[in-house]
Amino acid sequence: KPLFVVTIDGPAGVGKTTLARAVAEKLGVAYLDTGAMYRSVAWMLGKGSWEWSEEKLDRGLDKLAFSIQGAGEATILLVNGHETGSKIRTETVGLWASHVAKIPQVRRRLTEIQRSLGQSVSLVAEGRDMGTVVFPKALFKFFLDASPEVRARRRWLQLRDAGSTEDLEGLTRQMRIRDEQDRNRAIAPLRPAEDAVCIDTGMLDPAQVLEQIIRRIASQM
Ligand code: C5P
Repeated sequence: KPLFVVTIDGPAGVGKTTLARAVAEKLGVAYLDTGAMYRSVAWMLGKGSWEWSEEKLDRGLDKLAFSIQGAGEATILLVNGHETGSKIRTETVGLWASHVAKIPQVRRRLTEIQRSLGQSVSLVAEGRDMGTVVFPKALFKFFLDASPEVRARRRWLQLRDAGSTEDLEGLTRQMRIRDEQDRNRAIAPLRPAEDAVCIDTGMLDPAQVLEQIIRRIASQM
């Protein structure tokens, strides 16, 4: 069977990971959480790594190996052989990730890895630049959006369910900074690809968004 890629991009808290997992499950392929890759780089290199020299960054990046195993909801992303845990999920690490994500050599490195994963298996790839930069020829491209309030609340509920005590106000503020930074950076800024299908998820639950995405894919496959 020929390989294919479905891309799902959008801002923080819009439901990309939930949807990417569900779409991958429906299609029986792996999903790739590229936000988790940027978060892992930030986490493994450590606070302040975005101010390192090019050489030091290169040495740090050389020590990180990414792979994926399995398919559908059971897909796991491994960093140096270990599953990425909940420690990278906090909004603080999200903000660190957004700092390292501005560095050209970090983006170059992760883009290469993401493309090579896409050459070994079919993927539902989610992030910020999947449809615009990493997989410009993807078979299907989606861009999810919702108001900052809706997204902050969703992320807050999600973190709360995972046992976190981040407060909604602080989270809203941090997510705003992160989105601004992601939209306005020089390389691979967050924006819909010209040929992406845009879906406003503000009034929809995940099952309804999933249905729209699957209907689109089925009508063209
Ligand atoms: O999706 P998630 O919130 O986990 O992403 C964390 C951060 O990683 C984003 O705010 C963004 O700065 C960066 N990122 C990126 N490109 C991607 C995925 C994530 O720049 N494809």
